Amino acid sequence: AKKVILDVDTGIDDALGIMLAVRSGALDVLGITTVNGNVSLLKATENTCKVLQLLGVEREIPVIKGADRPLLRGSFFEHRVHGEDGLGGALRDMPVRQQPAPGFGPDFLIEQVRRHPGEVTLVMTAPLTNLALALLKYPQLANEVKEVVVMGGAMLTFGNVTPSAEYNMYVDPEAAKLVLQAGFPALTMVGLDVTRRALLNEEHIAQLGDTPIGRYVEQSTADYMQRYYERNGVRACALHDPLAVGVAISRELVTTRHLHVDVETKSELCDGQTVCDIQGRLGRPANAHVCLDVDADAFLAMFIQALLG
Ligand code: BDR
Ligand code: CA
Repeated sequence: AKKVILDVDTGIDDALGIMLAVRSGALDVLGITTVNGNVSLLKATENTCKVLQLLGVEREIPVIKGADRPLLRGSFFEHRVHGEDGLGGALRDMPVRQQPAPGFGPDFLIEQVRRHPGEVTLVMTAPLTNLALALLKYPQLANEVKEVVVMGGAMLTFGNVTPSAEYNMYVDPEAAKLVLQAGFPALTMVGLDVTRRALLNEEHIAQLGDTPIGRYVEQSTADYMQRYYERNGVRACALHDPLAVGVAISRELVTTRHLHVDVETKSELCDGQTVCDIQGRLGRPANAHVCLDVDADAFLAMFIQALLG
């Protein structure tokens, strides 16, 4: 199985991404690092532990706390989207049994990559603060990681926080810039162009059945789907973070273009916007495989099958 570390701000869709990663059988999850994002670091960490408890793997997968704020900016929580607790209320009453492992998320990334050089895939589904801090401390990380898959940004579509910016890029654009400029030989950007097409609907939830996981998915996504319905007239929700996990499992799910990508950090209207140099205007080397199309049916089938176990 492919060795991965997940970096999360759990988050309704982060939780579903963790489930896919743990259940797919294709990944060896070395650990999960948490970060301030959708919710505080503390909540993101508790939610991650609860999800592992629900899956019954809390003894097998360490959770390591990372950064409690973006590099230079203040927090920007998304309780409107993810609910007060971050999981749409679904595990509110579950006691947290798993304690986070000692250590600091960015250091965990460095340790694991040095232990398994050339073998570790990083799946980043949150603001990129932890990876940026790891790179600042240990710049060679970029050459020793196998691959980085980032959920974030958008090339052809509009943003989901501001008209131009996707959430993970918007919250810590300085961190995103450091990551994009670090020189990773294989970085894939799974942005809104594709994640908005990976839609979970009520039929999928029905397929999961009346099981603890099926009930969890139904509860945690209920308000999330309602919000989507109010905006788009369809009851569904985008599986942003699970799609990044899906791409780590199977590259075949998406088609990509290899481009130079940078992030805006100094604009009143466009901070956090990913700027993809489609026509090579900047003359800079390509640094990201930008996803442009997705086989959504194949991805949803993978997702449901993994969760059914
Ligand atoms: C991203 O923003 C967060 O709210 C989600 O968890 C996902 O990582 C989507 O833009
Ligand atoms: Ca997330």
